[in-house]
Amino acid sequence: MYEQNDEIQKLREEILRLKDERCALILSHYYQRPEIQDIADYVGDSLELSRTAAKTDKKVIVFCGVHFMAESAAILSPDKTVLIPDVTAGCPMADMVTREALIAKKKEMQDVTVVTYVNSSAEVKAESDICCTSANVVKVVESVPKERKILFVPDRNLGSYASLKADRDIELWDGYCYVHDNLTAEDVKAAKKKHPDAKLLVHPECRPEVIEMADCVASTSGMLRFAKESSASEFLIATEEGILHQFRKQNPDKKFYIVHEKLLCVDMKKINLHKLKKCLEDLQPRVQVSEEIRKKALLSLERMIRS
Ligand code: 13P
Ligand code: SF4
Repeated sequence: MYEQNDEIQKLREEILRLKDERCALILSHYYQRPEIQDIADYVGDSLELSRTAAKTDKKVIVFCGVHFMAESAAILSPDKTVLIPDVTAGCPMADMVTREALIAKKKEMQDVTVVTYVNSSAEVKAESDICCTSANVVKVVESVPKERKILFVPDRNLGSYASLKADRDIELWDGYCYVHDNLTAEDVKAAKKKHPDAKLLVHPECRPEVIEMADCVASTSGMLRFAKESSASEFLIATEEGILHQFRKQNPDKKFYIVHEKLLCVDMKKINLHKLKKCLEDLQPRVQVSEEIRKKALLSLERMIRS
């Protein structure tokens, strides 16, 4: 939890007033600080947040997440003002593939279908055939005709999980999320020893050997659904620690433990209430995508949203 003093309460009221004044929608990913999740109009996983951004009739979208998420909203809603309270909140995995490197790989592989994880830049999406998130990766891979070669960028762990589940050969880009990839099977064994009755919930950005140990492999929203529906009373969580706030809020009678405290995404924590307020006051920083890139990236994002 977070401190709830008079100053924080005043800050919250100011944000809510500015939100109405600006006709804004505040979106938050589950990895955000608890106080950001609690003030948002909508908290969700990457897929749900993209869908919500695409259909809102509000003029301003404030994206509390990392840059690629706000950029996806800007691609899907060009007539909206898309803001991110800290423009330096990026995703190191998204930076592991550039447009130039992807073009070179496509040339080398020839006639390949590029499936791109939304954790990527607009330029990379513009060079891709279809996007996916961790919630729909298997479905998206299965939608590619069997005779087509598939290149998956940038997350090698998510790509290898989809390859296994969809029973397809996939060429994997050598990217990874430093938060999830850092978790080892040894870390999981140690946590299981401490909490032997807990169900293990794993995000598919984790290494294959960690995924193999899971009772449930799912996106952040998928994990929340599993915990709600499960009759178990204890859960070990193998994803970014911000999500514990939602698990506990939605299931006050159940117990949740993070597998290891190193599961923390520094960029996701850059946004706070002060930056959110300033962003609504200034209507800055804005996230914009050139029309040429946007139109191409939109095709791969729309195919994902429709899939
Ligand atoms: P979800 O799509 O499961 O919300 O994950 C996003 C992400 O950045 C995972 O590290
Ligand atoms: Fe990127 Fe990993 Fe942070 Fe998600 S948790 S935003 S994949 S660095």
